[in-house]
Amino acid sequence: MATPKFAHIVLQTGQLPAMRDWYCTVLGAHTVFENGLLCFITFDEEHHRIALLQPPPGCEPRSPRAAGLNHSAYTFASIGELLERYSQLKSQGIEPRQPIQHGVTTSLYYRDPDGNFVEMQVDNFATPDEATGYMRGPEYAADAVGVGFDPEVMLRAHQAGVPFDLLKTRTWALEACPNMPDPLIALTS
Ligand SMILES: [Fe+2]
Repeated sequence: MATPKFAHIVLQTGQLPAMRDWYCTVLGAHTVFENGLLCFITFDEEHHRIALLQPPPGCEPRSPRAAGLNHSAYTFASIGELLERYSQLKSQGIEPRQPIQHGVTTSLYYRDPDGNFVEMQVDNFATPDEATGYMRGPEYAADAVGVGFDPEVMLRAHQAGVPFDLLKTRTWALEACPNMPDPLIALTS
C-alpha cells in the first residue's frame, strides 16, 4: 500500500497579513503566492507548507476549548539551532508561551496571532526507533506530556557547555527549573 507524506496545513484567518508575517518570521519562511484571499508560504523544498485562507465573511475568534488542531510542529536539527532561533525570535519580541521537556522532544510552544500553537522542537533521540522505544517505555507511560523548563536557563547551560544528553532529560528540567507550572494548562487554555 502506498504511503502518503505529510504536505501542508491550511489555517483560516481574519488577519492574513499578520499571520503571514508571523509565520515567515518564526519559521524563516517566504511567500510563494498571495492574492488577498489566499497566501502560500514555505520554508523548505515543498512548494507550500502552510496556506492561509481569509474568507470574505471573516472569522470567529479561535476558542481554546474548541475541538480541532491544537498545534503544528517543526523540527530543528540540533539544540543549538533551536536555541538560536529562540534567541532570534526573542530579540524580535516573540517568546514561547510554554516550553516543555517531553522526553522525546525538547519543545518550545509559541502562539500565532490567532492563538494557534506552533511547536518548535528538537528530537531528543538520534533515530526514530530510539524515540519510539522511549515512547513505549516507563517514563512516557507515567507522564506522556513532560515538564516545563525555562529556555533562558537552558540557553545559558548550553552556552556553558552542558551537553545535550543532559539538557534533554526531564531530570535536568526539574532540577534546573524548579516550580514550573503544569505545562498542559498553557496548551489548553
Ligand atoms: Fe507536538
